[in-house]
Amino acid sequence: MKGIILAGGTGSRLDPLTRVTNKHLLPIYDRPMIYYPIQTLVKAGITDIMIVSGKGHAGQFLELLQSGKELGAKFSYGVQEEAGGIAQALAVCQDFADNDKIVVMLGDNILQNDISNAVKDFEKQDKGSKIFLKEVENPKSFGVAQIAGDKIIEIEEKPKNPKTNLAVIGVYLYDSQVWQVIKTLKPSGRGELEITDVNNFYVKKGEMTFEILRGWWGDGGESFDSLLAAGNLVAKKK
Ligand code: G1P
Repeated sequence: MKGIILAGGTGSRLDPLTRVTNKHLLPIYDRPMIYYPIQTLVKAGITDIMIVSGKGHAGQFLELLQSGKELGAKFSYGVQEEAGGIAQALAVCQDFADNDKIVVMLGDNILQNDISNAVKDFEKQDKGSKIFLKEVENPKSFGVAQIAGDKIIEIEEKPKNPKTNLAVIGVYLYDSQVWQVIKTLKPSGRGELEITDVNNFYVKKGEMTFEILRGWWGDGGESFDSLLAAGNLVAKKK
């Protein structure tokens, strides 16, 4: 299985911190933000990792992370030429994935716990996708899932009136159908190719499994408060 970390976007919610640097290079306690998703993948045994960033910052990632040796990984680098959504950034990685299953992490998602078991379960899942859900207080800021027993019924992207408080976190496991799905997507109201539309494809096909994430989860890029909270959580743990 291969790993992909998406670290593009404009980081507009963290302006002016992100005016001259990429959001995923901002500090979370004692490391640049992107170190944490890298560690999560490496701990789960995923060491062949492609990092996608925007064209203005790609060189900084290369300079910071280099080959990946220091972090126990092997990095490839991709460039998303315009900020057009998570699914558009993912499309850059099709050749890298080479029809393997993939684990995609958003570069601003910080997890306390190991995802090794979920990755192992997904290796055994014959097809489809797996995502993680987490109860949150501010579901309006996320993709929100409705579930019935062990099935997801629907995911809504940043709903005004969320039907549950189960956020879809930024870690997605996909089989190789994902590349065809991305090709069928149309830009959403905010002009982006949405990862939630990819996920709903698998939901509708009945091929989406999920886990409720244990331990804390921080989306460091969602707001100034979430950036601070993620840093504090990491500092406490260390
Ligand atoms: C993205 C996804 C959203 C997900 C979130 C997790 O939102 O679109 O579904 O819940 O990541 O971090 P973004 O933070 O990029 O707006």
